[in-house]
Amino acid sequence: MSTNVADSSLPAQRLLGKVAIVTGGASGIGEGIVRLFHKHGAKICILDVQDELGQQICESLSNDDSNICYLHCDVSNEDDVRQAIDFTVDKFSTLDIMVNNAGVMEPHNPDIRTFDLNRFEKTMNINAKGTFIGMKHAARIMMPNKKGTIVSTSSMASVIAGVSPHAYTASKHAIVGLTQNVAAELGKHGIRVNCVSPYGVPTPLTFNQLPKEYVTDEVIAGARKQITMKANLQGVDLTVDDVANAVLFFASDDAKYVSGTNLLVDGGFSSVNHSFGFFR
Ligand SMILES: NC(=O)c1ccc[n+]([C@@H]2O[C@H](COP(=O)([O-])OP(=O)(O)OC[C@H]3O[C@@H](n4cnc5c(N)ncnc54)[C@H](O)[C@@H]3O)[C@@H](O)[C@H]2O)c1
Repeated sequence: MSTNVADSSLPAQRLLGKVAIVTGGASGIGEGIVRLFHKHGAKICILDVQDELGQQICESLSNDDSNICYLHCDVSNEDDVRQAIDFTVDKFSTLDIMVNNAGVMEPHNPDIRTFDLNRFEKTMNINAKGTFIGMKHAARIMMPNKKGTIVSTSSMASVIAGVSPHAYTASKHAIVGLTQNVAAELGKHGIRVNCVSPYGVPTPLTFNQLPKEYVTDEVIAGARKQITMKANLQGVDLTVDDVANAVLFFASDDAKYVSGTNLLVDGGFSSVNHSFGFFR
């Protein structure tokens, strides 16, 4: 039997016929995941609160609208998520892949004494509770099927401090904890649970403190330059496609024995401290 990983018999479409939900799929990293999953033959339901963008992605990918759909869903609202998952199962017959990617980041507040707790709750509700609700209702469908894979988007803020606001950091730590604990429960049902933790990618989330009209190509290029300068890995930029590829790995059978993992897509940033200048 051949064990050559470059074997040409490997499927070009690694998700052919699989049914996936991608939350936060109308923008940024989520959009990258949707486009990559579509290329790999998945049937996809995008869940988001940006209806126009979500619809536009569907239209750009499908002429007959049969393998991709968009649904308005606030991931922090359990009824919304329950209905969206039931809708997906009605439309495509099952659910194989749940991607909990929707997220927000509160504005940076340099003084903890003035931190607005409403902002703390909003971030935790969408990022942490929203991920848990997605896991809960995906498990409802996947457990009787004895298979499925759940992938969530955490952040390098889950393993390194001082790079993001407080609530965002707490919520991303929570996603890793949930990933591991839910993997512990769902392993006996054949369900894998993992998360990915990217370094910085310029997306609307990165610029959420700026009015839309300020986010010009020049501003985006400047942000990319800053992110690249501070990165460990040089000569290459992190893109949404790099993050989407990591999610594809977990979603596909290539990761059939991988569960409970937090995969850092950060070019070594969180494990390297260059402040002594030892290698620079
Ligand atoms: N961009 C980065 O540098 C970076 C780094 C690490 C992790 N992440 C994570 O990646 C994920 C995607 O973020 P992005 O950078 O693509 O930003 P983005 O703003 O482009 O995408 C986030 C999406 O989530 C959606 N969303 C927000 N609240 C929602 C809700 N209540 N219900 C449903 N959808 C909701 C937004 O409408 C948007 O489409 C987030 O979880 C973010 O924390 C981003």
